[in-house]
Amino acid sequence: MSGGHSTYTPSSGLGRWIDQRMPLPRLIYDSFVAYPVPRNLNYAYTFGGILSIMLVAQIVTGVVLAMHYAADTTLAFTSVEKIMRDVNSGWLLRYLHANGASFFFIAVYIHIMRGLYYGSYKAPRELLWILGCIIYLLMMATGFMGYVLPWGQMSFWGATVITGFFTAIPLVGDWIQQLLLGGFAVDNPTLNRFFALHYLLPFMIAGVVVLHVWALHVTGQTNPTGIEVKSKTDTVPFTPHATIKDAFAMIVFLAVFAYFVFYIPNFLGHPDNYTVANPLKTPAHIVPEWYYLPFYAILRAITFNIGPIDSKLGGVLAMFGSIAVLFFVPWLDTSKVRSAVYRPWYKLFFWLFVINAILLGWLGSRPAEGVYVIMSQIGTLYYFGFFLIIMPVLGLIETPRKLPNSITEAVLEKNKGAASAQPVGAAAAPETKG
Ligand code: HEM
Repeated sequence: MSGGHSTYTPSSGLGRWIDQRMPLPRLIYDSFVAYPVPRNLNYAYTFGGILSIMLVAQIVTGVVLAMHYAADTTLAFTSVEKIMRDVNSGWLLRYLHANGASFFFIAVYIHIMRGLYYGSYKAPRELLWILGCIIYLLMMATGFMGYVLPWGQMSFWGATVITGFFTAIPLVGDWIQQLLLGGFAVDNPTLNRFFALHYLLPFMIAGVVVLHVWALHVTGQTNPTGIEVKSKTDTVPFTPHATIKDAFAMIVFLAVFAYFVFYIPNFLGHPDNYTVANPLKTPAHIVPEWYYLPFYAILRAITFNIGPIDSKLGGVLAMFGSIAVLFFVPWLDTSKVRSAVYRPWYKLFFWLFVINAILLGWLGSRPAEGVYVIMSQIGTLYYFGFFLIIMPVLGLIETPRKLPNSITEAVLEKNKGAASAQPVGAAAAPETKG
C-alpha cells in the first residue's frame, strides 16, 4: 500500500489472534480507514465507490432473478412476465436490475470522463487505467447478453444485428458468429450460452475490480491539481473524510436511481421488448440500449469503402477501434501536465468531446439516413481526432497555466480566494439577527 507501514493495532485478544493468522482486518483497516487520500478530492472522485455498490447490487438482484428465470426460448418471455406479476417483489428485483444496468453505465461514463479530465491515466497509473478499460469491455458484453434474456423483439433483433457484425471480419468472421450463436441464427443455443455468460461475467468484473483497486492502492489516487502527494499535510485519512463524502454521493445517486425504479421504470427501456421475440417480424428501427448508442452511430457512420475495406467491415473496425483507442490513451497524451484544470486548450477540447459523445448517442438512436449520417461522420471524425491528433499534438504545443507547488498550497490558495470573496461582515451576520 502506498500508505507506508501499517498502523493497525488489534484492540482485543481475538483481534490479535486473527491478525497473526490471516490479517484481513489489518488489510481492511489499512485500505479503507488509515489509507491516506489527497485532501482536495472532489465529488468526481466518488464514482469509483458508487460503481462498487452498483456492481454488488447487480450481482445480488441478478442471482435472485436467475432463480426464477428460464433460459429457454419457449419459456424466457413468460418467465420474465411471471417474475413481474407473481414472484414476491419480482417487479422490484427486475426494475432494480434493468435500471441498475443503466445507472452502472451512467456511473462508469462519469468515472471515465473524470479520468480523461484529470489525466488519471498518466504514469504511473497506466495499468490502473487499462484494467478499467477491461472492466468496461466486460460490462459492455454483460449488458448486451443480459438484454437478450427477456426474449423480447429488441432482444432478438439486437442480438441478430450485433452478432451479424462479426461476419464482416475476413476469413474467421462466419466462424466467430456461429460460435457466438451456437448455430446459424439466434435461437435456443444462443439464449443458453448468453445466460451462462451473463451469469459468469459479473464475477469476472468483480475479479478485475479487485486488481483495479489494488493497482490504485499502489499508486495512490490523483487529485484535481494533478500534482502527486509530497508530504503528510497533502493527505487526510480515508475514514472519515472520503468515507463520508462517498456515502453522501452514494445516497444522492441512489435517490435518483430510486426515482427511476419507482416512478419511470421503463423510461430507459424500449417498448418493443414487451413483445415476444418474433423471428419473422423485423422491428422498424433496431436500436441497442442507450449506453451503446455512440458506438452504434460510429458503426453506421462508415457508409463508404476505404480501399480494400468495404463499408461494413469499415464500420465494424471503427466501432471496435473507438473502444480500443481508450487502451492507448496513457501514451497518446503527451502533456507533461496531468490535470485539465491547468490546461486551458485541453479543457475546451475535452468538453467538446463530451458534447460530441452525447450527440453521437442521440444520432445512434436516429435512423441511419440523410443528415444523421453526415452528422455521425463528423462526430466520428472528432471522436478519433480527439484521441489521435488533439491529445498527442496539444500536449506538445499547449502552454499550461502555472502549477501550485503542492496540493496543500493549492487548497490554501483556494480557501484564501473564497475567504476574500465573502462580503464584508458576512461572518458577523448571524449575530446581528434579532
Ligand atoms: C465496475 C467498474 C469500476 C469500479 C467498481 C471502479 C472502482 C474504482 C475505485 C473504487 C476507484 C477509486 C475512487 C475513485 O477515484 O473514484 C477507481 C479509480 C480509478 N478508476 Fe475505476 N472502477 C471501475 C471502472 C473503471 C473504468 C471503466 C475505468 C477507465 C476506463 C477506470 C479508471 C480508473 C482510474 C484511472 C482511477 C484512478 C483515478 C485517480 O486516482 O485519478 N475505472 N476506480
